Amino acid sequence: MKKLLKWMIRIVLILLVVAFLFLFVAYWRSTNDCARYSAAPANPMKAIAYCDYGVANLKLVDAEKPTPNDDQILIRVHAVSVNPYDWHFVEGTPYIIRLGIGLRKPKDTRVGVDFAGTVEAAGKNVTQFKPGDEVFGGRGGAFAQYICARATGSVTLKPANVTLEQGASVDIAGMTALQAVRDRGSVQPGQTVLINGASGGVGTFAVQIAKTYGADVTGVCSTRNVELVQSLGADHVIDYTKEDYTKASERYDVILDNVGNHSLSENRGVLTPKGKYVLIGGGGANNQGLLGIMTRPLKAMIMSKFIDQQMGMMMAEPSQKDLAILGDLMQSGKVKAIIDRTYKSLDELPDAIRYVEEGHARGKVIVMVP
Ligand SMILES: NC(=O)c1ccc[n+]([C@@H]2O[C@H](COP(=O)([O-])OP(=O)(O)OC[C@H]3O[C@@H](n4cnc5c(N)ncnc54)[C@H](OP(=O)(O)O)[C@@H]3O)[C@@H](O)[C@H]2O)c1
Repeated sequence: MKKLLKWMIRIVLILLVVAFLFLFVAYWRSTNDCARYSAAPANPMKAIAYCDYGVANLKLVDAEKPTPNDDQILIRVHAVSVNPYDWHFVEGTPYIIRLGIGLRKPKDTRVGVDFAGTVEAAGKNVTQFKPGDEVFGGRGGAFAQYICARATGSVTLKPANVTLEQGASVDIAGMTALQAVRDRGSVQPGQTVLINGASGGVGTFAVQIAKTYGADVTGVCSTRNVELVQSLGADHVIDYTKEDYTKASERYDVILDNVGNHSLSENRGVLTPKGKYVLIGGGGANNQGLLGIMTRPLKAMIMSKFIDQQMGMMMAEPSQKDLAILGDLMQSGKVKAIIDRTYKSLDELPDAIRYVEEGHARGKVIVMVP
């Protein structure tokens, strides 16, 4: 028995050394294609790129203007919006994500997702869009003058009464809010819904969307945002600087948590007996560490096995259908994009990311792409 134990310890140690060596070599071999930005492009356009992690390494570069394939459209981007998603990539945090996006340097040097713009050209199989159409959606590398997007991907026509800034606000935050309320929360008329982080990008959409589903909505925000959240239709607003929602006597059928600043047990304590807790995100840019909030979904999954309430994390899925639903909601005036500030040009993008990293944006932060 003792001998077996000794051998098992040896094998574990050898595996640990091999894993360490593998990571060490992979780390030093980790590179990207940044060299291409030093050659003059044949068809230049301006784009934001980063060769190393960190906002200070974001640069406005001359990149090659993309060419659409038969199933894609070429879009002249006019406005983009910044999400916490972007700074996760720019900073490479929590560090665990670097296993996928590049250990030492970012593998993909382009950044950004949310955009609004005009179709400049369409591939021969594209029937939904034509040159001149104004569109909005999400596409990797959107912080640029031009992008190509799959015509069946996360892109849709922008209603005429929705501005480019509003259109650029929607993809990540609006889609997350819609899928959280409708799919993960399965919100029904008359249910009580609490939205923690009601004044941010996701929260401002979530309050309005939960109201369209007939919910009784409580928004949690700081003092300066109380009026804003009320104006979005919230029935009750909790100022987190004065009151802790997890210590009050109210119970909620659904909690949508954009902040993650209370434990799972505390949140469970204010759920109704069959309530649902949906973790959307949380954690600031400076405290992501190795795993960020990634241990929480696992804990929530285990916890859900032993209780009647449902607790878990959601990951929003890109969806053209959902984008069109959000476009309709905005066209009809039932949902509006709340815009905190608008930066004038792509070279101000690092400032926009730094601002979102502070964690106190009121709605969305836009950067125009002249
Ligand atoms: N799972 C997914 O698929 C998914 C999709 C999108 C986003 N996310 C994540 O969801 C989170 C929210 O995204 P977002 O775009 O809404 O971020 P955001 O716009 O940066 O959110 C900022 C808002 O958070 C509020 N806030 C900060 N501390 C708070 C607290 N203790 N209590 C209540 N509110 C607080 C701020 O209000 P004050 O200024 O009043 O403090 C501010 O309005 C992020 O972590 C993001 O990464 C996840």
